[in-house]
Amino acid sequence: MNILVIGSGGREHALVWKISQSPLVENIFAAPGNGGMGNLASCITLDSSDHCAVVNFCNKEDIGLVVVGPEVPLVEGLVDHLEAEKIIAFGPSAYAAQLEGSKGFTKDLCARYNIPTAAYGRFTEIQDAKDFVSEKGTPIVIKADGLAAGKGVIIAETLDQAYTAIEDILGGQFGEAGAELVIEEFLVGEEASFFALCDGENILPLATAQDHKQVGEGDTGPNTGGMGAYSPAPVMTDDMTDRTINEIILPTMRGMKEEGHPFKGVFFAGLMITAKGPELIEYNVRFGDPECQVLMMRMKSDIVPALLACATGDLDQVEMGWHDTPALTVVMAAKGYPGSYDKNTEIGNLEQAGSDENTFIFHAGTKKQEDKILATGGRVLNVTSVGKNVSEARNAAYAALDQIDWPQGFCRRDIGWRAIMRERKKTVT
Ligand code: AMP
Ligand code: GLY
Repeated sequence: MNILVIGSGGREHALVWKISQSPLVENIFAAPGNGGMGNLASCITLDSSDHCAVVNFCNKEDIGLVVVGPEVPLVEGLVDHLEAEKIIAFGPSAYAAQLEGSKGFTKDLCARYNIPTAAYGRFTEIQDAKDFVSEKGTPIVIKADGLAAGKGVIIAETLDQAYTAIEDILGGQFGEAGAELVIEEFLVGEEASFFALCDGENILPLATAQDHKQVGEGDTGPNTGGMGAYSPAPVMTDDMTDRTINEIILPTMRGMKEEGHPFKGVFFAGLMITAKGPELIEYNVRFGDPECQVLMMRMKSDIVPALLACATGDLDQVEMGWHDTPALTVVMAAKGYPGSYDKNTEIGNLEQAGSDENTFIFHAGTKKQEDKILATGGRVLNVTSVGKNVSEARNAAYAALDQIDWPQGFCRRDIGWRAIMRERKKTVT
């Protein structure tokens, strides 16, 4: 079978890498792909927002499965268009992708099906939003309803901060994505992510992960797409995982089906593990980046039958094996990220750095020019390692990363700190 992967990040490199190990696969295409995928996939120029062009390409190359990596093409209805042309695609319909594309949509669904989440209100008028905030007090969380590339959430410590956020967002800071607001209670606890595949009526639980959203060590500074991640998330005990499945994922799946819009694809639930148990912060409807990289390193089974079953049904017939050992990924980003940064700087010694058998370097914002690898994006490389515990995986990842010759890059040196602190406590007690 031939497979087309849409996207260009570390997530898509990890998917291509895992898919390439499947005996079911002949050719892999990545649109547009990146500088690290060349030996596994043909990187092609194809505008994923031009759905007719994607359909034509699939017909021409006899594509048996399209795997859509990022959220934007899902929210724009690429999967609907492909399915209408009888092309099998992994990912939700545009309607179901509202679980990520509209925070208000998700909160209302949670309310209808008693899914644990922070108490909330939806607003389009500045004064109504301010009245709600002054009644509830602070801290309080102000969110643009739509997709805002991870920047549309403000945790307001004071009423003034909350009022400013309301004015900024409803005033047009995020364009259409901020035409509506969700304002919600501030949840206290530890964050974790849970991933499960779904074919509309069955789920296949995958694994848990934790990421580091902030750019600075000790989880400080502005938010980014993610500076590192590890899997599994120690806070997700078997009990928390069971509760997440039973109280959050299954009611969502049943609710979407009952309402005539079954969800197919991957549920990526952002959770707060509070004193009461797991509560849903948000859904994403695609794999996390960089969470996908650690998931793919731990996945033992062939991914292709599972992706196909999500699209065509019978996911309950698929079994998925996992390596018990943890995986950890460190993101190397261009200096200046998440602000402005230089492009087209050269990265050296990647082959030597990635030669350890427990390590794989996934590329994100890179391109290959002749025999050189150039950095073209903010997040550029994901140095990913497995080890018998998180400390060992982290040591392997940093040992590899330190061999990379890229003076214009930086990383956080404390990825995995929470899990490693837990491991140390366990050794002491
Ligand atoms: P979101 O884009 O909705 O995942 O929000 C981004 C980040 O904001 C989350 O990963 C949390 O760290 C934080 N956050 C969002 N909602 C809440 C909440 N209700 N209580 C506490 N923190 C939150
Ligand atoms: N790493 C967070 C995300 O993919 O949304």
